[in-house]
Amino acid sequence: MSQRIYIFDTTLRDGEQVPGCQLTTEEKVVVAKELERLGVDIIEAGFPVSSPGDFRSVVEISRAVTEPTVCALSRAVQGDIDAAAQALKEAKRGRIHTGIGSSDIHIRNKFNSSREKILEQAVAATKYARNLIDDVEFYAEDAGRADLEFLARLVESVIAAGATVVNIPDTTGYCLPQQYGDKIKYIYDHVPNVDKAIISIHCHNDLGLATANTLSGVLNGARQVEVTINGIGERAGNTSLEEIVMALQVHKDLGLYTNVDPKRLFPVSQLVSEMMHMPVQANKAIVGRNAFAHSSGIHQDGFLKHSENYEIINPQDVGVDKSLIVLTARSGRHALKHRLELLGYRYDKPALDTIYSRFLDMADIRKEVNDKDLMELVR
Ligand code: KIV
Ligand code: ZN
Repeated sequence: MSQRIYIFDTTLRDGEQVPGCQLTTEEKVVVAKELERLGVDIIEAGFPVSSPGDFRSVVEISRAVTEPTVCALSRAVQGDIDAAAQALKEAKRGRIHTGIGSSDIHIRNKFNSSREKILEQAVAATKYARNLIDDVEFYAEDAGRADLEFLARLVESVIAAGATVVNIPDTTGYCLPQQYGDKIKYIYDHVPNVDKAIISIHCHNDLGLATANTLSGVLNGARQVEVTINGIGERAGNTSLEEIVMALQVHKDLGLYTNVDPKRLFPVSQLVSEMMHMPVQANKAIVGRNAFAHSSGIHQDGFLKHSENYEIINPQDVGVDKSLIVLTARSGRHALKHRLELLGYRYDKPALDTIYSRFLDMADIRKEVNDKDLMELVR
């Protein structure tokens, strides 16, 4: 039987923390409504105690969306939790996301505390939040570098205290996929009450492994993934929503599915990129400018014979208009003939040979030959 993977989108919280990506409340509401249309399950709307603006954004997003759960971040302290609960008052479904560092590095250097005291604070914060709202997610910050036994004890304690979801973040993007997957498996094998909560994955991309680590977590039992549009987020970013959704879609045999409408992936990616002034890298999987562009002669020839030869996703399935054949000096006759025919020009072989050799001269100079260049060439 297929199993649902819940999509927790943190574009408006972890993503929006990035310098230069800040949005006004009104802009955040626009993005939140698009995320709702996309089909995400949870929208992390902000960190209410951090500023009046963030507080207001959580209030307005709570009013604006009805389908997804609206989530607000807090540290494991009462003032933060109170602010989160207050900001979520009008949400149809609200969730408080509270937590504290779980690695010895954080416990020592950030909190100047001990494992026992951290455990007590985590339990107290979870109980306090549960008195204010039914849905409480606990994050064990820097779980990627935390001691496994302590992490399992922490997870067990916060579930006993009422956490409905427990987030195991690889905050610094430190883990390798096997390591991270083993961590999730350890939690499932060693936390007796693990079935009372959903285990969530939150990976950062410092080693370019966020998507791989997230999938590894899911393959080891986690059922919620924390992701952002275009993978934006602190430092090298978070796991990219579009990569996870399409990885599960392409590999249907895994028996895992999400509620996301893949056709909305490209339009939402463009919207977020424009609003946050954050260009999408050209070779970004799924939504980059080159994700469906074919430029070498061998690939173009194979693609024109059958798109499946070089594409595992139909671009229209993710909202991209069509695949692109980029004409360069690496292109072959087949690609040139195809493009000329699209422009309404048909040639026999000797004529095409002549045009092709002129095309190569032009491509060496201009690097990329566009339709206007081709018209000039045939004239
Ligand atoms: O990366 C992280 O650990 C976080 C937590 C606040 C969930 O963003
Ligand atoms: Zn994060």
